[in-house]
Amino acid sequence: MSLIKEIIKEAQKGKYAFGTFDTSNLEVAQGIARAAEAKNMPAMIGVTETAAEYAGFLPLMNLVKGIIAESKADLVLHLDHGKDPKFIKKCVDEGFKSIMIDASMYELEKNIEITKNIVDYAHKKGVIVQAELGKIPRMKNSTEIGTTLKQMEKTDPDELEEFIKKTKVDTVAVIAGNIHGMYKPEGNPNLDLDLFKKLREKVSTPFILHGGSGTPSEDIKKAISNYGIVNVNIDTEIRVAFMSAISDFCVSGQMVTDPRKVLSIARDSVQKKVEEKIELFRCGK
Ligand code: G3H
Ligand code: ZN
Repeated sequence: MSLIKEIIKEAQKGKYAFGTFDTSNLEVAQGIARAAEAKNMPAMIGVTETAAEYAGFLPLMNLVKGIIAESKADLVLHLDHGKDPKFIKKCVDEGFKSIMIDASMYELEKNIEITKNIVDYAHKKGVIVQAELGKIPRMKNSTEIGTTLKQMEKTDPDELEEFIKKTKVDTVAVIAGNIHGMYKPEGNPNLDLDLFKKLREKVSTPFILHGGSGTPSEDIKKAISNYGIVNVNIDTEIRVAFMSAISDFCVSGQMVTDPRKVLSIARDSVQKKVEEKIELFRCGK
């Protein structure tokens, strides 16, 4: 059994979750790996198509692979929110151990068709597939939160049952109140725990929680402990941890010429944030 399958199985058994933390650079990837090591917990390091555009596909993939190879923690290279089937298949061929096909913008039938095609391809090479059902919008700023909620399409329990049966995905990202990003001053909405319950009654497939940043911690713990969420995705809070460390340094007025002096502070800040999240997701385990 592959490492990632093992990690998911253990999380299911223990009723805890591990994190997927996204990166587009060296220091964030290091911060994630160091946090996983310090907490002795597995994690996925997620890269997206836009991160690969920014850093270059080979540089970013090899950077993360190198960090994983040198780490004592159980870490897995994951493609987050893959949308382009060609790109996803390239990731499968290049040694990603886990990929996400996000065809959630399409209606059910088309989502099933696209997802199934990726599942067939990835499973032949032993790569696990995560898909998404329901629509999780991201708005540009916090004042749009009302609009965000109106635009959200929560996962439908009957559709989920059909989706899983037809696609045979390994894990599924469900939408039940979770949104990408962090919202102020209202804060992110609560998770719809009743819906999680209904979804769980329909299928036994492990659930993934996207949009972990800013989500009320108590809701996250309840959803993990009761409804089989094995993995929570965090991006925005990592970006904030990284950038606020840099901005604090700049505001302090210190002058340095070696970028490592600043970037290592940002790396430590990411590590601290990821450790905090790992602790939350492990639900006391
Ligand atoms: O795929 C990434 C996550 O869903 C991140 O969501 O930015 O709200 O943490 P977040
Ligand atoms: Zn996401």
